[in-house]
Amino acid sequence: MQIIRIVGGASGKTQKLNVEEQDLDQNLLKWLRLQGITIASSCDGEGVCKKCSIQNDWLTCKLTLKDLFKYQPDGKVFVPYL
Ligand code: FES
Repeated sequence: MQIIRIVGGASGKTQKLNVEEQDLDQNLLKWLRLQGITIASSCDGEGVCKKCSIQNDWLTCKLTLKDLFKYQPDGKVFVPYL
């Protein structure tokens, strides 16, 4: 099992989410929403609005959880407006 740490820029709070092996191929935006994390979007994952971006301007709608751990091995997700 791996862990994603959601770090809110506005609140300064960190939330830990457990990731099961079978979830690694899921879309990051959809998975975060299923976990109750509010990620902004006005294009619903079309890759147009750029509102779903996290650190380094990565678009959560275009990443899988596996991609996140590839580029960010510690699982940290910084969301400026949370
Ligand atoms: S949801 Fe619009 S760019 Fe990702």
